[in-house]
Amino acid sequence: MSNKLEGMNGIEKFRMQVEFAQLFNVDNRAAKGRLEESVNKYHPNRIDYRVVEIREQTSTAKTIRIASVTGSLPPFVPGQYINILLDINGVKTSRPYSISSPSTQTAYYEITVREKADGFVSHYLLNELRVGDFLSSTGPDGHFYHYRIYGNHLVFIAGGSGITPFMSMLQTYYEKHDTTKNIDLIYGCANKDDIIFESELRKLEKVYPNFRLHLVISDPDEGYDGLTGFITADIIRKSVGNVEGKAFFLCGPEAMYNFVTDELKEVGVKDLHVRREVQSAPSDPTKLIGWPQGVNKNSIFKVTINNEKVIEAKATEPLLNTLERCGITREAKCRSGECSLCRTKLTEGTVYHPSTVRLRKSDRQFGYIHPCVAYPVSDIKINI
Ligand code: FES
Repeated sequence: MSNKLEGMNGIEKFRMQVEFAQLFNVDNRAAKGRLEESVNKYHPNRIDYRVVEIREQTSTAKTIRIASVTGSLPPFVPGQYINILLDINGVKTSRPYSISSPSTQTAYYEITVREKADGFVSHYLLNELRVGDFLSSTGPDGHFYHYRIYGNHLVFIAGGSGITPFMSMLQTYYEKHDTTKNIDLIYGCANKDDIIFESELRKLEKVYPNFRLHLVISDPDEGYDGLTGFITADIIRKSVGNVEGKAFFLCGPEAMYNFVTDELKEVGVKDLHVRREVQSAPSDPTKLIGWPQGVNKNSIFKVTINNEKVIEAKATEPLLNTLERCGITREAKCRSGECSLCRTKLTEGTVYHPSTVRLRKSDRQFGYIHPCVAYPVSDIKINI
């Protein structure tokens, strides 16, 4: 965020000061003219942590508790993420993780990581990270949180590890004794063993009268008597009743987004009332709409950097990952095409961006790409 201040005029800085004050509910009037200081306090570029606890959630997911080495952590809005910065065997990379602990907890953050097939970073965090190790991240970021304009009847729809931002929201509301919100959580998992935070959610259901949990298991064991299958229009209707006046929040894998978006339409939810967490780079872009015919999982293309260096890139790997593996680092935060930090000039060739990526019109017009979610589908040349 402090990068955004560079080149801003007084009015723009003032506007951002007001935005900050509203977001973090702080009164910055006394600190007038000291915006940069406030921004760095609430939104530092980098935080250093020590791992203080690692808890197993399921056979494929763990919660990692991290405390600041300086003793203070910036506030965050439940639903925001931090981008964990790593050096794994010489490869400098990063991954964004939603904070799963409540924002009322100021001594530490927790992130909950689930094993991904071929997940370079998730494998490291789940199998090699130990209590006492050091980690770093960028400051809390992201826009997946509740604004008052959405009203107070909230329907959270989560799939798999997409539960993490909702866990932070639910615990925060409960700990703040916020009785103004009415919350339904529809949580889809493949089977019972995949449910992350099951005991915490059951406990919340008992002590937080405004909260209702609706678990949906797609591949249940014999005899399971709860909701089964996918999160269909029928299940949404049965779980939340009339959808009028309710705000829907979606976080989960890409397949769930596509499916649930259609089901929400069927029950009459307007797109305006649906808030989606941004999607990280898809694991298999070849299955997405618009993927060019003739480019497959084995396709390899040449990437020329600054007309000097040439590297090889797999068509199905996000360009940013390829660059990092070759020792070329770009500043990055969201790794989902949202923050624009990794923005790079494409001077020749073609890349594929999934349709869900929100590229600015000017970026498209002037040939800028977001390598975190760009896949080379021809030989390309970039300037960095
Ligand atoms: S890291 Fe945010 S757009 Fe690439």
